[in-house]
Amino acid sequence: MEQKVVLITGCSSGIGLSLAVHLASDPTKAYKVYATMRNLDKKQRLLESVRGLHKDTLAILQMDITDQHSILTAQSSITEGRVDILVCNAGVGLMGPLELQSEEMMRKILDVNLLGTIRTIQTFLPDMKRKRDGRILVTGSMGGLQGLPFNEVYCASKFAVEGACESLAILLQHFNIHVSLIECGPVNTDFLKNLMKTDLTGESEEVDTDTRSLYELYLQHCHNMFQNAAQDTDDIVQVFLEVIQSPNPLFRYYTNSALLPLSSLKFTAMDGSQYIRAMSKLIFTTKIADS
Ligand SMILES: NC(=O)c1ccc[n+]([C@@H]2O[C@H](COP(=O)([O-])OP(=O)(O)OC[C@H]3O[C@@H](n4cnc5c(N)ncnc54)[C@H](OP(=O)(O)O)[C@@H]3O)[C@@H](O)[C@H]2O)c1
Repeated sequence: MEQKVVLITGCSSGIGLSLAVHLASDPTKAYKVYATMRNLDKKQRLLESVRGLHKDTLAILQMDITDQHSILTAQSSITEGRVDILVCNAGVGLMGPLELQSEEMMRKILDVNLLGTIRTIQTFLPDMKRKRDGRILVTGSMGGLQGLPFNEVYCASKFAVEGACESLAILLQHFNIHVSLIECGPVNTDFLKNLMKTDLTGESEEVDTDTRSLYELYLQHCHNMFQNAAQDTDDIVQVFLEVIQSPNPLFRYYTNSALLPLSSLKFTAMDGSQYIRAMSKLIFTTKIADS
């Protein structure tokens, strides 16, 4: 059977790296994986993970999703001339009091998470439409379904991705192209280390003491969540595989069903009040002793 050509963004670490390794290691060589990353100096980690593999299942390409030229160059390097499965995974976080977030930081988040995802889809979509065949998988976030304090712009970017994907999914079913969001809760990756965080160590006058205390509680909550509920990338990869192998993939997949009851409050009380109350209680009653 002909190999499925898969292109994945953000393969220097985390979910993208694990997915690339897993697909490229398929014993039947069912996939040809184009693992892309914005900085090829970081390819060593991926190369070490796939040691001993045949070159016919993996190629590594430079691709910065904030740079259209870089996306087009990567596209032109695909020897098969097509992508059957596009995985839009690259993303960055931004955390801290909103009043401390610079215009530059906010633009960067939107440029990577929202516009970068859209740019990537835009580039590969015409060919999928012509073939009347394709899969688009997007790494979503519970932060794209529910607001989180101190993550306003990150959540805005991920909510926007939800809207873009849902809109596309309606249209693309007429082209036999399946769009799926893989909604992740906390995952053990470099995400927290890599996220842009506002520095509160100084005595910034822009942030009042109440906000500072609430931010401390949020950070504690975040720490507890990652310690108690974070999944490994292998668990996330299993969900991606389910989508890739399904004859008729669904639109949304949740990697961690424990996080669903909170989200569902948005639909049981459509005015939003229940969700906001429950989330506030959950986060801001965190005790330091919980950790
Ligand atoms: N980890 C979590 O708890 C979690 C939860 C929900 C959703 N997610 C989502 O999962 C996805 C993958 O994140 P991760 O957890 O695997 O974190 P990660 O280890 O930090 O991986 C993020 C990847 O995105 C890449 N990237 C950032 N900006 C890019 C750009 N302009 N062009 C191309 N690649 C770029 C990073 O490359 P560099 O190494 O060059 O920075 C890295 O390869 C993200 O979309 C994230 O929002 C993660």
